[in-house]
Amino acid sequence: MSLLFSPLHLPSPRGGLTLANRIVVAPMCQYAAQDGAATDWHLMHWGNLLNSGAGLFTIEATAVLPEGRITPACLGLWDERTEAALADTLQRARRLAPPTPICIQLAHAGRKASSATPWQGGQLLSPAQGGWQTAGPSALPQLPSEPPPTELSLEAMADIRYAFVAAARRSAAMGIEAIELHAAHGYLLHEFMSPIANQRTDAYGGCFENRIRFPLEVLTAVRQAFDGVLGVRISASDWIEGGWDLTQSSELAQRLKAAGCDFIHVSSGGVSPQQKIALGAGYQVPFARAIRQSSGMVTTAVGLITEAAQAEAICKPAMPT
Ligand SMILES: Cc1cc2nc3c(=O)[nH]c(=O)nc-3n(C[C@H](O)[C@H](O)[C@H](O)COP(=O)(O)O)c2cc1C
Repeated sequence: MSLLFSPLHLPSPRGGLTLANRIVVAPMCQYAAQDGAATDWHLMHWGNLLNSGAGLFTIEATAVLPEGRITPACLGLWDERTEAALADTLQRARRLAPPTPICIQLAHAGRKASSATPWQGGQLLSPAQGGWQTAGPSALPQLPSEPPPTELSLEAMADIRYAFVAAARRSAAMGIEAIELHAAHGYLLHEFMSPIANQRTDAYGGCFENRIRFPLEVLTAVRQAFDGVLGVRISASDWIEGGWDLTQSSELAQRLKAAGCDFIHVSSGGVSPQQKIALGAGYQVPFARAIRQSSGMVTTAVGLITEAAQAEAICKPAMPT
């Protein structure tokens, strides 16, 4: 019997969610929003993927604050206007498809915000080009040629934490069943975790405990506000000597689980162009498998999974070692 096409239960304080199968549509930025608001592009994209038969559909990285968008064309959920656009578009897309649970990825792009769309080069935009001042754990740019982000104050971090909570409440109000916090790919929460981007000297930088503090605080705050399925997407490795790695990811997964996280979505990379990724078929799957084994949490694997037999094999429980 196929495991890929067998149901999977995701736990949550509300009682959980049973997916019809184990195929999950990963979040994919569309760069098609207007001032953060969903458009008819999203209606087509969501409607299409909601008809794919996948067990769970994840809405793209959705910024919890305007300055947390990757590009000026990224989707947002920070006020009544963006909430109304998202809720209306989603409701119309859902009416055109069989019932499928929805997950939304809530995000803040940190020092990688204020960028051009990929087809315009992806570089940081100046205010004259429609960009804005970025912010991160430390005033360290990703590239030496870039203007540095502002180092976030404790007050600004509290505002961001609250923005994640407010966006989670808005998501719940429109019937979204699951939330994934974006702590991967070199965006804000990952920047706090990685010594490559975080060189703070206060309680949020330095040792492992300090670097994971802010992501854990965000998870804890969202958990208190949202009783649906709540997960976190991480980059299991920076692919850089001295960066964030699998050992720290496994330890973090256990802390997240203890704080009420229901699943981990395991990706990798994104914090620095110095990364040396060992790319190949299913290259991130060993990370997901290791974290699944050490944390006992439901885990999503992603990255160059292109064959049905490959996906089926990934679903199998690991052999005892
Ligand atoms: C167009 C595009 C947009 C993406 N947007 C997001 C995103 O919003 N959030 C995220 O965590 N990953 C994003 N990703 C990464 C994907 O979720 C996924 O991890 C990546 O494509 C690797 O899987 P693949 O090898 O099957 O393509 C994006 C990827 C693509 C190609």
